[in-house]
Amino acid sequence: MQILLDRYSSQPIYLQIRDRISKLIQVGAMQPGDRLPSIRSLAQSAQVNKLTVIEAYSVLEGDGLINARQGAGYFVSAPSATVGISSVRADAMLNSAQEVAIVETYNDSFFDSYVTSIQAQKQEGTIDFSLGFNLSGDLEDLTRIARRAMTGIADSLCGYELPQGQLNLRKQISQQLVRLGLGASPENIIVTNGSRQGLALAMQYYLKPGDWVIVESPTYFGALTILKELGTRTIGIPMRSDGMNLELLEQYLHNYRPKLIYTISTLHNPTGITTSQAHRQQLLALAEKYNCPILEDNAFEGLNFDTVPAPIKALDRADLVTYLSTFSKTLMPGLRVGYMVVTGEHYPPLLERKLHKDLHVSTVSQAVISEYLASGHFRHHLNHLRNANLYRRNTMLQALEAHMLSEVSWTIPNGGLFLWLRLPDRIQVQSLKSAASAANVLIGCGKAFFPSGQGYQAMRLNFAQKPEDITKGIAILGNLLKTM
Ligand SMILES: Cc1ncc(COP(=O)(O)O)c(C=O)c1O
Repeated sequence: MQILLDRYSSQPIYLQIRDRISKLIQVGAMQPGDRLPSIRSLAQSAQVNKLTVIEAYSVLEGDGLINARQGAGYFVSAPSATVGISSVRADAMLNSAQEVAIVETYNDSFFDSYVTSIQAQKQEGTIDFSLGFNLSGDLEDLTRIARRAMTGIADSLCGYELPQGQLNLRKQISQQLVRLGLGASPENIIVTNGSRQGLALAMQYYLKPGDWVIVESPTYFGALTILKELGTRTIGIPMRSDGMNLELLEQYLHNYRPKLIYTISTLHNPTGITTSQAHRQQLLALAEKYNCPILEDNAFEGLNFDTVPAPIKALDRADLVTYLSTFSKTLMPGLRVGYMVVTGEHYPPLLERKLHKDLHVSTVSQAVISEYLASGHFRHHLNHLRNANLYRRNTMLQALEAHMLSEVSWTIPNGGLFLWLRLPDRIQVQSLKSAASAANVLIGCGKAFFPSGQGYQAMRLNFAQKPEDITKGIAILGNLLKTM
């Protein structure tokens, strides 16, 4: 195979190889079942390091385009289960007129839904589409690595840690961010107790009671609960199929002079939408024009099936953007390790807030994640997770096609964990939720994601489930809807 590489391009070589091969597959020059050149032969013919080819092949594997067979090499995968549904339907669902939500008091459903979901996880036989994380996969490696990490930190367990977190972990995170196109030095990172703590720290830093804040509508309900506690006032800008409606955003930036924009730019929760590079540039330009900081939440970092643009933070030259992410969605929420990237004058005060809050994140959790990242298992685990989740997403899409009323529409996300479904107005999602829960199926009620607690009838379904549970659970939901 002859692969032409541009050594003067800013695009890393492994991504160039990935793009060339994925193009060959796309145009049919390589067919399902075809064997790819061995790592050694491609490294020789392209005159690159073997590690570069390995990296390119792992990304292709993560994208679901190729698969490795033990001892036999890499092969082009069969196309993922075709999904007979047009994204036009999802566009229509999101782009139909929605109103800006102006909220001075918040709805309060987080506590109930959180506790119900945690209790349900412990009940045998429940199909929980309301979960906000991956079903635990094959984490044997992690258990082994955790043991190794523990032996290495016995001494440091006896003392306190730096508030910004262990240097080794921050170095690992910084390397990981480079792969996303975000250059952040370890000195710009603060390790937090989950990204939820990062959200709270940043919101408390930028906002005071009574301030206006912009969020997407719908958005992550955990962020809304923090805003409620802070006593701020919220403007919910409707989410379109390409992201937050920027014309409306500008209008409200101009008229209300908000103090913060909260955005989930990649694999948005709950809709699964990833904004384009152009949308990111325009959003940042508006933030600059109105001097309004952005809080960019990338909780689903690394769970994309296909390439995604670099975070908005990568474009930020004026220290307007604070970036957040977490290991809750890719590894274990129970470890409670997240992090923020903060630059310029904002770093010292945010670090001080972190110190005052709880000194630092558990030394054990930090050491486990640091060791897992350093061992190289994390990248492998991510590839595996992406492949598994792509299959599960497609299983859910097929089940929906088979069992849902024709008036129900849904998004087709390029990764993450959720599908977002819009129901006909005559169906009260709360009634569906109660009926489904009686049949041992839990759903995320759309209402919780709208800043005002109002909005169209919708539900969020987590597709990272066992395929047999997906098929069974969706059939149950479909049948319930038909009777409503
Ligand atoms: C968009 C978003 N941000 C932040 C979080 C918080 O996650 P954690 O605190 O576990 O890192 C979540 C969890 O569901 C989320 O969906």
